[in-house]
Parts: sequence; C-alpha cells; structure tokens
Amino acid sequence: MRSNYCGVLNKSHLDKDVTLCGWVDRRRDHGGVIFIDLRDREGIVQVVFDPDTEEHFKRADRVRSEYVLQVTGRVRARTESTVNPDMATGEIEVLGKELTILNAAETPPFQLDEHTQVGEDVRLKYRYMDLRRPEMAEKLRLRSKITNIIRSFLDKNGFLDIETPILTRATPEGARDYLVPSRTHAGSFFALPQSPQLFKQLLMVSGLDRYYQIAKCFRDEDLRADRQPEFTQIDIEASFIDQEQIMAIAESMISQLFKEVLQVELPAFPHMPYAEAMAKYGSDKPDLRNPLELVDISDLMTDVDFKVFSGPAKDPKGRVAAIKVAGGNDKLTRKQIDDYTKYVSIYGAKGLAYIKVNNKDDVAEGLQSPIVKFLSEDIRAKLLERVAAETGDIIFFGADKTSIVNESLGALRVKLGEDLALLTSDWAPLWVVDFPMFEEASDGSLTSLHHPFTAPACSAEELVKSPDKALSIAYDMVLNGTELGGGSIRIHDQTMQKAVFKVLGISDDEAQEKFGFLLDALKYGCPPHGGLAFGLDRLVMLMSDAQSIRDVIAFPKTQSASCVMTDAPGLVDDKQLRELNIRVKLPAKEDS
Ligand code: AMO
Ligand code: AMP
Repeated sequence: MRSNYCGVLNKSHLDKDVTLCGWVDRRRDHGGVIFIDLRDREGIVQVVFDPDTEEHFKRADRVRSEYVLQVTGRVRARTESTVNPDMATGEIEVLGKELTILNAAETPPFQLDEHTQVGEDVRLKYRYMDLRRPEMAEKLRLRSKITNIIRSFLDKNGFLDIETPILTRATPEGARDYLVPSRTHAGSFFALPQSPQLFKQLLMVSGLDRYYQIAKCFRDEDLRADRQPEFTQIDIEASFIDQEQIMAIAESMISQLFKEVLQVELPAFPHMPYAEAMAKYGSDKPDLRNPLELVDISDLMTDVDFKVFSGPAKDPKGRVAAIKVAGGNDKLTRKQIDDYTKYVSIYGAKGLAYIKVNNKDDVAEGLQSPIVKFLSEDIRAKLLERVAAETGDIIFFGADKTSIVNESLGALRVKLGEDLALLTSDWAPLWVVDFPMFEEASDGSLTSLHHPFTAPACSAEELVKSPDKALSIAYDMVLNGTELGGGSIRIHDQTMQKAVFKVLGISDDEAQEKFGFLLDALKYGCPPHGGLAFGLDRLVMLMSDAQSIRDVIAFPKTQSASCVMTDAPGLVDDKQLRELNIRVKLPAKEDS
C-alpha cells in the first residue's frame, strides 16, 4: 500500500512520486491550501493539498486528527522561509495528488502532542494511542534493537536460546508468587516463575553447557519506578566457568551493546566489594558518577559528650558517619538543611547534624553547628582532617544503627548529588562483589542475600559454623546507581546445598518437598556452573534515558499492579471458579 515511510523522507527523494500511509497528526487550513502532518512509526511529514486536485482537496478538508490515510504525491523542497529545522523531514514536503481515507477516527481521548496534560492513567488506558507518539515508538524500537544485538552476541558465544516453563513451582527470589489454580488438581496451584533460576541450573545438569533466554518473570512485590510485577530478564547460565569468566562475558556484552547502540565506549568496570560499597556509599548499588562519600567517624565519637553519637559509636551494630559537601556552606540555605533533615527521616534517621566550616584553621570559633559544643577541640581537628574539610564546606552526620545510617546517608548522598548537579560523567558502571551469603531478617533469622543456590566462598563446615561471616561468589552489575543485573556461581554439590538450607532453617523434609527435584539432580553429575540475569527493562530505561521502566514496556502495569486498559485483574464467573474448586471470600468492608 505504500512506497515509503513518512518519517524517512528527505532531500534525496526530491521530485519522486511516493505513496504514504499513516495517521493525521494535524490538519491546518491556510487560506485555500490544506496542510496535513502525516505520521507513521518513523516520524512525520508535511503533505500539502491545493484546490487543483478538486475531489482529493475536498477529502483533505474532511479529515480530522488520527484519521488513517493513504496519500500519493510528489516530494518537493520547501521554500527557504518554510524550512523547519526542528523536524527530521523539515526540508521537504509532499505535494498531495491523491488522498484515500482508509479509516475515520473519533476525537482522540487526548491530543498526542498534549500528552503531558493528561494523567498517566489516561495514557495507560489508551496505551495504543500513547504508543503512536514517535518518542514512545522510538523506545520500543530501541528495545528491539537491544534484544537483537544481545541475541546475536550470545549466539556467537555459543549460548542456546531455550525456553523454560511459565506454569511451574515457586522459585525463591525474595518476592511473593503469582499463583495459578489448577483445574485438574483440585486445591493445587502453579506459581509463575520469579525467574528461570532452577530450570537453567537443570539445563546445566543436562549438559547443554551454555543457555540464555529473554525470559518473562513475575514477582508480586511493592512497585517502584524500576520495578514491574511482570518484567523481562536476559537470563544466562554456563557450565565449567568461574566468576571471572562469566563476568567478563557479561561485561563485554554490555560494553558492545553500548558501543553499537549509543556509540558510547564504557570504561572497564571496577570491582568493588559489597562491604566497601556499603561503607563508602551506604548502598550496594552506588552511583559512581556522584563524588560524595560517606566517611566513618565512629572511632572519633566513642567518648564525646553527645549520646546521640557516642551510643551508636560504641554499639557494634551502630555507626557514625559523615558526608562532606565541598563548598556546600554557601550553596545550602537553612531551609534546605531543614528539608534534608525531613528527607532523611523517611529512612528512619532521627536527625541530621551538620557543621558549617567557616574557617577550618580555627576549630574554636570557626565551626558553626548545633553539635560542635559537644566535641572537644581535639576531636574537631581530627574530624576535619578525617573528612579533609576546607573552609566553605558543610559536613552532615548520621548516627544510628548501621543499616539506618547507610540508608539515610546513602539516600542523602544521591539527593545532594542531584540537587547540586554534582554528577561527573554520563556513565559509571561497576561490579559489586563479595556479597555476604546471608542477611538478618527483623526476627533475627537468616535469609539469603541472593538466593539459596548461590555458592559460598567457604567450605560447608565454615558456613554452618559462622554463617554471618560467610561471603558468597555473587556479583551484581550496577550502572548509574541502578542494579542492572546480578548472578552467582551456583552450588553444584548436594552436601553444600543441604548446608545452606540448614542455615536458612529449611528442614530436610521441607527442602525435599520444595526443591527435591534440584537436590536429586545434584546427585546425578552436576557440573560446576554459574550465571546471571539482567533486567532488560532497566537496561532499556537507562539507555533511552527514560524515567521509569513503564516507558519502555509496551503494555505496563500501574503502580497498583493493574492494567487499566484491559481492566486486569478482573472478576471471573462462578462457573469458572467452581471448576477450579475456588470460593472467594472478600475481606469485610471497613466502616468508614
Ligand atoms: P535478581 O533477582 O537479582 O536475580 O534479578 C535479576 C535482575 O532482574 C531485574 N529485576 C527487575 N526488573 C524489573 N522489575 C522487577 N520487579 C525486577 N526484579 C528484578 C533487575 C535484577 O538485577 N535468578 C537470579 C539471577 C541469577 O542468579 O542468575 C535473579 O533473578 O535488573
Ligand atoms: P538534638 O540534641 O536532638 O537537638 O540534636 C542536635 C542535632 O543533632 C540536630 O541537628 C539534630 O538534627 C541532630 N541529630 C539528632 N539525632 C541524630 C542522629 N541520630 N544522627 C544525626 N544527627 C542527629
């Protein structure tokens, strides 16, 4: 039906006859001449109809926004005064000769160029309209390009694309499962996979050696800008490799992708131990574009006359840390400091002490702060030296349980970096390594930091003896403060797997019931293996500079995990429920 896309026409097509198909972006009537901006996936071109083409001109007069047209015409140069440098096709226009209305359209729920004036809910309800916007289509095109490059990279490196089941059993990745009731097994449920983790390990037992899958994963968890209940992983696993090898493959895949898609040469990725990331940045996914660092000052504060500081300084589970903002004294007003104090309270901080360094050489009089009276001159001097303070700096402090200090000062660091425009480069990738095997839950029990199939860096005996000290052979790839992907070398030995379950308080019976198939498989010749998974949505979000992964998913869910377009999740009829042996009991409505 068409000879060219609208959005690709340029001077090389001058004097050519073209047939275009697309949507009416805008129609303007200019004293007897009708201009139609015709839009397709590739962009917009201006088509002009003048009254010579009588019948077609009349039709052009009738079309409205979002009508679907087929237009035949000749490409011509625009006059100098009408060239539009903001438009890819702005040097040319098409002189229309024939116009066919392929379909009419009702008044659209929102004008595409006025999408910012409607709420995201409206855009999601009419997602098929929103995706007509060229910048949205561009993101999906980028996504397609990215998956293509990745497929071809992995294919060249010997990875086989293998699908794994969607109707399966629970995979422990730390979120709630989406469950699907079974009709043929009354009272039993499938779980949608939180990841293909167990299946990819079994494929290694099968000897398939190198596997990948662009895999849908499902997690019922609290949603944020970088989390969706249904998302896509680039899931990878390989046998007979060690940590360095699998990390090298993954790093070269991402580097190549950036070069091909964005013409960006990423630097070599530094490797940072988890403990260092937490100590310096208060986060296991630090944004290294931000030069601010947390500096530990617990040792200086154990004996000060300020319980807020000396308490956590003496507590083995506490921490006192500082962030110095160079030149921050002039940049931050009292109101901003108060706002930051409120901001850190979201993360549990009970306050935000600060010192303004008016004169670093005068520790007696040159420091302005609500807390300086509690610190001896000796401690003041040591503190200034520790954070390498200069006159004009401001120093913020956090004192509390280590986790609260890390979270609150980590978040403050990010916020200060944004507010004061401190970021030093466009891209800062890194690997975070040497994660602990376990973390302590609020009830004191241990849970896996990664997942229970991750190999520890120590023996099974050492693991059981001091699980809190055990490190894992796990690695996360972090880019600009976002966790892009993560993985580990896996346990391939039954004894070790049982030891991990034991530390996690999973009894033999429970392990057998939940993961018997994996424990069995480990008995029959499981090779050493490992892998990782990238969040494709997050990767595309970063590469397209989108604000949320919703913008790079064709049909995303809302913040409350629903689809306003299809109205999912929805009610089902009683017959279906009876077949599934399900009776629904809704929570009692609360009296308001
Ligand atoms: P993990 O749970 O770290 O590891 O997930 C891997 C990557 O998937 C992305 N991701 C998400 N993206 C969008 N929405 C979500 N709700 C979401 N959850 C995770 C992140 C994350 O880095 N089986 C292991 C991988 C392995 O060990 O090989 C796993 O799933 O970018
Ligand atoms: P106060 O003695 O409670 O008035 O606190 C003195 C200063 O210390 C104020 O600037 C508080 O914001 C700050 N502050 C209080 N608790 C903490 C804390 N846990 N960490 C850091 N600063 C704090």
